[in-house]
Amino acid sequence: MDAKLIREKFIHFFQNKQHQLVTSAPIVVKNDPTLMFTNAGMNQFKDYFLGNETPKSLRIANSQKCLRVSGKHNDLEEVGVDTYHHTMFEMMGNWSFGDYFKKEAIAWAWELLTEEYGLEKDRLYITVFGGDEAEGLEKDQEALDLWKNWIAEDRILYGSKKDNFWEMGETGPCGPCSEIHIDIRPEEERRAVDGKTLVNEDHPQVIEIWNLVFIQYNRMANGSLTPLPAKHVDTGMGLERLVRVIQGKFSNYDTDLFIPFIRKVEELCGKKYGKDEKTDIAFRVIVDHIRAIAFTIADGQLPSNNKAGYVIRRILRRGVRYGYTFLGFREPFLYQLMDVLADTFGEVYPEVKDQKSFISKVIEQEEASFLKTLENGLKKLEQITSGMGKHSDKVISGELAFELYDTFGFPLDLTSLIARENGFSVDEKGFQNAMAQQKDRSRSAAGLETGDWVILQDAGEVNFVGYEQLESTAKILRYREIKDKKGKQYQMVLSQTPFYAESGGQVGDTGIISNERETIKVVDTKRENDLIVHIVDKIPQFPHLEVHCEVDQDQRNLTMNNHSATHLLQAALKQVLGGHIQQKGSFVNREMLRFDFAHFAKLSEDELEEVESLVNEKIRENIALEELRSVPIEEAKSMGATALFGEKYGDFVRVVAFDREFSIELCGGTHVSATGKIGTFKVLSESSISAGVRRIEAVTAEKAETFIREQMQLLKEVQHILRNPKNIKKSLEDLIQERNELRKAIEQLQLKEANHLKNQLSTQFADMGDFRLLSVLVKLPNADALKKLAFELKNEQERIVAVLAADIEGKPQIAVVISEELVKEKEYDAGKIVRELAKEIKGGGGGQPFFATAGGKELGGLPSVIELAKKLFSKRQD
Ligand code: SER
Repeated sequence: MDAKLIREKFIHFFQNKQHQLVTSAPIVVKNDPTLMFTNAGMNQFKDYFLGNETPKSLRIANSQKCLRVSGKHNDLEEVGVDTYHHTMFEMMGNWSFGDYFKKEAIAWAWELLTEEYGLEKDRLYITVFGGDEAEGLEKDQEALDLWKNWIAEDRILYGSKKDNFWEMGETGPCGPCSEIHIDIRPEEERRAVDGKTLVNEDHPQVIEIWNLVFIQYNRMANGSLTPLPAKHVDTGMGLERLVRVIQGKFSNYDTDLFIPFIRKVEELCGKKYGKDEKTDIAFRVIVDHIRAIAFTIADGQLPSNNKAGYVIRRILRRGVRYGYTFLGFREPFLYQLMDVLADTFGEVYPEVKDQKSFISKVIEQEEASFLKTLENGLKKLEQITSGMGKHSDKVISGELAFELYDTFGFPLDLTSLIARENGFSVDEKGFQNAMAQQKDRSRSAAGLETGDWVILQDAGEVNFVGYEQLESTAKILRYREIKDKKGKQYQMVLSQTPFYAESGGQVGDTGIISNERETIKVVDTKRENDLIVHIVDKIPQFPHLEVHCEVDQDQRNLTMNNHSATHLLQAALKQVLGGHIQQKGSFVNREMLRFDFAHFAKLSEDELEEVESLVNEKIRENIALEELRSVPIEEAKSMGATALFGEKYGDFVRVVAFDREFSIELCGGTHVSATGKIGTFKVLSESSISAGVRRIEAVTAEKAETFIREQMQLLKEVQHILRNPKNIKKSLEDLIQERNELRKAIEQLQLKEANHLKNQLSTQFADMGDFRLLSVLVKLPNADALKKLAFELKNEQERIVAVLAADIEGKPQIAVVISEELVKEKEYDAGKIVRELAKEIKGGGGGQPFFATAGGKELGGLPSVIELAKKLFSKRQD
């Protein structure tokens, strides 16, 4: 069975058991402050478990792209070193939302594994939750009893909270779990050591393949567990491990999911996989990491310097670093795996195939710039170990090891290895401390601290009424306190709301929520999974009173102009530059709009002008908004509506069009009723934000007017300064030309003056016996003139020493020049001399034996320089 068939069989099996197939959610999580990346199949169903939303089906199955590289579930350090952990992996799962429970989940798991996939029953072991006293949780006798129907009791083990109580993060849905493990060791080894003793002992051939979680609790921010309104099933089976087991391989990397990648890396580096453990680890790291990188970029997350973007950047760097050190890559190589990736996954996950060339360009550029950084990191380490640093105790500090890890992508083992080779050791404890500190920092940066909700009423489906109206009444359903960088704030959820929650690049609404007793300010509105959360300035004192909601109309209208203009801009870009234009980011607020899109060249002036004109033309056409709600997603797509990669769409979507032939998009944002309202569209800038991604910033309506007015005003002022010429452009050009001519004339004058000065000085040398000395004060326009004068004196005169104490526009400088023959004969050294003289002007300098200069702070010291120079040389004469 190949991986594709194995994936399909899973889905079919559960479809036959009335499960609805759901597509994978994006790998990058939006609208959930507790998560950066999807780390389990159940993430997208979090609100179903919590009872915040009604599930669209009580039984669901899918195959989900997951990434476990941050937060509670982080396997990064194991990846490549072992043969069965991954950064990105596919998790197949089946879910019951308050429908079936343990009995069916267990029976079906057994049936699928042993009958459909044909796994040998006597290689399987089961773990069930053994209870936890501190949490007040009983052992899962029910699961144990159910398993006894299928497997001998002595193959069922009780497990601890660590292994058998599953939680998605610090807070959220959770529950006891039952895992299925398999022992794939050869017969002989199995006879020698009982497989049961190796379960959960990190044995590479005795591994967990499927986790059945019985979701029953919500972990609260205060650490307690609250029972959920219903009991649910959440199961997860890593496709890569299952494929390995079914295909009878000892490593996930020997399956058809990875072999094509390994062959490609072999071809690129000329080395073979399976020859040496060190290079094998590098192979595994690379073929694992390229998946995480490509899938994340495909879902819209570009490598960057913060949050999710930084995590991806570090994974990419880890891959490059292994390739560099162990496989000899010196040029970008990861991007060359994109063909294989698109072939392997394109059918199931079209986003990687459709964006292949974009993803590979982004990766290539990122690799190229990291390769430079990497060489610097290696140099840094070499410098220290070769004794040039100040690490005389022969220990590399934890902070430095961490910096190398964090900035340059060096894992601790590599730093230790290089250190050991040079007789150094690494402060590993210090490294771990620095790492823990960073984790703390990123935790508080990623997740704001939230208190637990005070729930007045269950949420159910929250109704957004803000497409039609900006005011409404509502009940308060829940509220809580939060702390973020801005300090203490509060959040509130209402039974219905006209406030638009930030999404699709459009900022959240602000406004007022009030009742007869109090007025609460809404400073922002955000989504948290499927809840609309109002960020407010105080906690409601009378939470049971009905409230009146009022959106700040001005802000909303201005924001709407910009959002609709963004749609027109996207359509215009497609028309002018081509159909490849794809949104990579967008942001609109009351002030402006920003649109990022994939395109590989800077827009020419003409192109930009054409785009701007086209948008303005569409504004003047005053095209009416066509808004369709609850369109089945497939129908919307066949209408030609643009969908975004990395966006999570439901089965029914909203379609926004301004002339279907021109602009039609899937969009939840708020828009003008007709394009004429936008007034004017003006581009402010066009730039590059990363490889292959351009950014346009623009303004509309009054802002555009203001911008144009300010530009006109500026022009007027310039005209005024130029004394109101008829033709400003010509007048400016004349001015510049005149300035250039004047500059040339001044330079000639200066030259003449310098010549004159030089001639004068030539007569002022004092005879010192076998050489001549000049020590004088000069006034010069710049340092170059001083240098020039010194060299001319040296070239024209023989056997001289000249000390020029210069006043350069009020700053003291000294130049000392000495004829070569004197340098040789008398071992004079201009560098030494100038340093001595510079003390008189409180400065320093240096140079070569025949020419040196110094600068200083004290202009008044120049006469002493002259005197000192005379003294120094008359002494030498003696
Ligand atoms: N949520 C569980 C896990 O990720 C089962 O899907 O292991």
